[in-house]
Amino acid sequence: MNLQNRDFLKELDFTQDEFLYLIDLSIELKAAKRERREIARMVGRNIALIFEKTSTRTRCAFEVAAFDQGAHTTYLDGSSSQVGHKESIADTARVLSRYYDAIQYRGKTQAIVEELAAYSDVPVYNGLTDEWHPTQMLADFQTMVEHSGRRPNDISFAYVGDTRSNMGNSLLVSGALLGADVRFAAPRELWPAEDVQKIAADLALKSGAKITLTESMEEALPGADFVHTDVWVSMGESVEVWNERVSLLSDYQVNAEAMALTGKPESKFMHCLPGFHNEQTTVGREIADKTGMHDGLEVTHEVFESPNSVVFDQAENRLHTIKAIMVATIGDL
Ligand code: CP
Ligand code: NVA
Repeated sequence: MNLQNRDFLKELDFTQDEFLYLIDLSIELKAAKRERREIARMVGRNIALIFEKTSTRTRCAFEVAAFDQGAHTTYLDGSSSQVGHKESIADTARVLSRYYDAIQYRGKTQAIVEELAAYSDVPVYNGLTDEWHPTQMLADFQTMVEHSGRRPNDISFAYVGDTRSNMGNSLLVSGALLGADVRFAAPRELWPAEDVQKIAADLALKSGAKITLTESMEEALPGADFVHTDVWVSMGESVEVWNERVSLLSDYQVNAEAMALTGKPESKFMHCLPGFHNEQTTVGREIADKTGMHDGLEVTHEVFESPNSVVFDQAENRLHTIKAIMVATIGDL
């Protein structure tokens, strides 16, 4: 499999075989690191990391993955560089392409990362836009493969909550690409956009994926091996929408009853993180006070901390999967 010089802007940039190859490469890189037999395949490479939105996992995963592989990184954000406000994306792409071997971009619209890639001579990776979160998908599917011992086309997962977000779009399309049994539960106004549903339906025809979009938790959850959720208000959205979102989504909280609906005591809880499960964050506390939801927002503390929760395995896998995408596209193989 040769993925040299390829961009990763959205899940559809890769075929099912290529996506599965990246998951398997990540599993191997994870084992190699644990067993202290990792081989540095990116010596002398330099990676630019542009963040126009905040990050813990994605930034750290790119940096540690690069360092493990012998590469170097530069972190750029809107406040300490010219990106966006004083220099266009097209000009930034052409400058950075002269210095770096790859560019990671996290920011607002998908159009920005697409423009960056169009003007860049080196691979561009989408570290999250309003529309897609593709590097997260490699980690999510690796985690589901590892915890089930099955391939994605033999896995059933639910995603409940704000399903028309980047995470909703990405889970729908990657589940469809990989042939999974995908169940989404949300109020209809928070379902993925029609064009995203169409992409998923077309992929499902080829992959054999089963796709269910419903307003009913009772319909979505029975039989699910994994239950995913995400924050109800994403980065870039106004804080003003919290009240409305909480009233739309309070019945879609992942709590003990929701997990019980799977009918599978071994069913696992997943969340890309960060998540609001207690009041130990400024935002979590403010929203809890404002809305009266004092037992977690999208997930209860009980489920988040339960043995069924695999959120930190999922977070760890961001490192190995981001390493896999860089090794495959710019490494010496
Ligand atoms: N899941 C995720 O992308 O986390 P960060 O926002 O911390 O990068
Ligand atoms: N939907 C979330 C994902 C964060 C990793 C957001 O965009 O804020």
